[in-house]
Amino acid sequence: MWCASLPRRLLHCSPSLMKKQKGKTAAEQRWLQRQRKDPYVKASHAQHFRCRSAFKLLEIDDKFRLLQPGRSVVDCGAAPGAWSQVAVQRVNSAGTVDGFSCVVDPALPRGSVVGVDLLNIPPLDGARFLSSHDVTDPATQAKLLELLPGGRAHVILSDMAPNASGFREMDHERLVAMCLSLTDLAEGILLPGGSLVCKYWDGILARRLQEELSGVFGSVLTLKPNASRRESAERYLLARMYRTTSP
Ligand SMILES: C[S@@+](CC[C@H](N)C(=O)[O-])C[C@H]1O[C@@H](n2cnc3c(N)ncnc32)[C@H](O)[C@@H]1O
Repeated sequence: MWCASLPRRLLHCSPSLMKKQKGKTAAEQRWLQRQRKDPYVKASHAQHFRCRSAFKLLEIDDKFRLLQPGRSVVDCGAAPGAWSQVAVQRVNSAGTVDGFSCVVDPALPRGSVVGVDLLNIPPLDGARFLSSHDVTDPATQAKLLELLPGGRAHVILSDMAPNASGFREMDHERLVAMCLSLTDLAEGILLPGGSLVCKYWDGILARRLQEELSGVFGSVLTLKPNASRRESAERYLLARMYRTTSP
């Protein structure tokens, strides 16, 4: 069970790494200081999440109940896997009540979670991962069709982000383009009535992105979870009630 074997500290959220400050640049030291003080970083360690981003999805899902037991989820930009951990718990894809306590409720339907990332995603019970895969590549979509039950998902999650260039406008445009590519993915795999959550960085194309999604979803909301740093341009769109465009 992953609940027994999950490494407590992983990747860039690691406090053991945070202690090794020698040889760090001023910017890196500021980042480490901020991580040390961040209540969501602390909570992610306490609750064995791979990253603080878990709390953004938990917040969204506590309010909108997208991830119910039995549902199929595709997690785009899944590494290191915190959103997938949340999805596994909520859709019961590990077959345990909360994906963590190891208590089994056989009456609860089992969902499915498939994560995709350009990077390696460490294994997680209850999830299948396509590491070293580009979500925007049609070959990835073909693999998702094979991995999802009936080739369809109830929910597409995307916390994807390109490597920031430092040029705000350019980064904004690249992320919006990635979000728009998710409408092609939705056309291939999302069930009618399904939902999409996608991250974007706020900017001039935000309205256009919202309008594009409104063309194929019945409802589109902009969200800024409390766990998303106030100073960050990060926002999420929650698009619900997918109207399939496939024949
Ligand atoms: C902010 S991280 C996601 C964190 C993740 N939600 C979690 O909770 O662990 C963004 C991820 O998007 C991935 N990414 C960026 N572009 C991608 C693409 N075209 N296809 C797949 N993954 C992509 C990056 O490799 C990175 O791991």
